Amino acid sequence: MPEPILAVDMLEVAYGPIRALRGCSLTVSAGETVAVVGANGAGKTTLLRAISNVLPHTGGEVRFDGTTTRGRRADQLALAGLLQVPEGRGIIGRLSVAENLQLAWALRPDEGGFEAASRRVFARFPRLQERLSQRAGSMSGGEQQMLALARAIISPPRVLLVDEPSLGLSPVMVSEVFSVLKAFRESGVTILLVEQNVRQALAIADRAYVLRQGTIVAEGSGQTLLSDPAMLRYYLGSG
Ligand SMILES: Nc1ncnc2c1ncn2[C@@H]1O[C@H](COP(=O)(O)OP(=O)(O)OP(=O)(O)O)[C@@H](O)[C@H]1O
Ligand SMILES: [Mg+2]
Repeated sequence: MPEPILAVDMLEVAYGPIRALRGCSLTVSAGETVAVVGANGAGKTTLLRAISNVLPHTGGEVRFDGTTTRGRRADQLALAGLLQVPEGRGIIGRLSVAENLQLAWALRPDEGGFEAASRRVFARFPRLQERLSQRAGSMSGGEQQMLALARAIISPPRVLLVDEPSLGLSPVMVSEVFSVLKAFRESGVTILLVEQNVRQALAIADRAYVLRQGTIVAEGSGQTLLSDPAMLRYYLGSG
């Protein structure tokens, strides 16, 4: 089997006495969409922040493209293509939509230049093009999430880590977010998606892991986990 593009091996993270990750292991292969689902406080955000080195880990290892991430800063990993869309979206509210896109591109410039990158983004997010001069913080929650996703793909990442993109959105916007993720997936982007919206996350995932109290307690194809009501009830508290 080829080496996975992302390998998380027995990862440990503690906040003082609180052990948020307790030997968490998973893999993501190039081109896969992998979901991590789990209840509030299971450790999902901690996992993504530790993978991208926003948060230091106290044990275990993360390998990106076969190389340990130890000693590499989050911005260096982002430049290498391991990119996180944080919970809360990470956009800069006081800047315009155009400025947000420009900054995102400047952090990870590609050879084609900003103009070409913007054209690609607008093809997928036409609504953002209509709002280029609007202050990002004044857009609706759903529009802000679209901007966050647009920033993430303005120069294509190798692995995209997405934390709860559907959080706080209306059902219509939730569907739109998932259809954007599906389009990313179809264009070959590798995705590690963390979600409480279990059914929709499992529906778009090739494989999924269930995280409970900092440990992976189940793994399978999205379809397998979806068709296991006992698992859904027991681990996730939803029937
Ligand atoms: N900065 C912090 N200091 C102390 N404890 C923390 C901190 N951040 C998270 N925790 C704790 O670590 C555990 C995992 O939190 P985390 O935010 O990773 O969960 P989550 O699965 O993302 O939850 P949610 O679905 O609510 O976003 C929780 O018990 C939480 O209280
Ligand atoms: Mg979280």
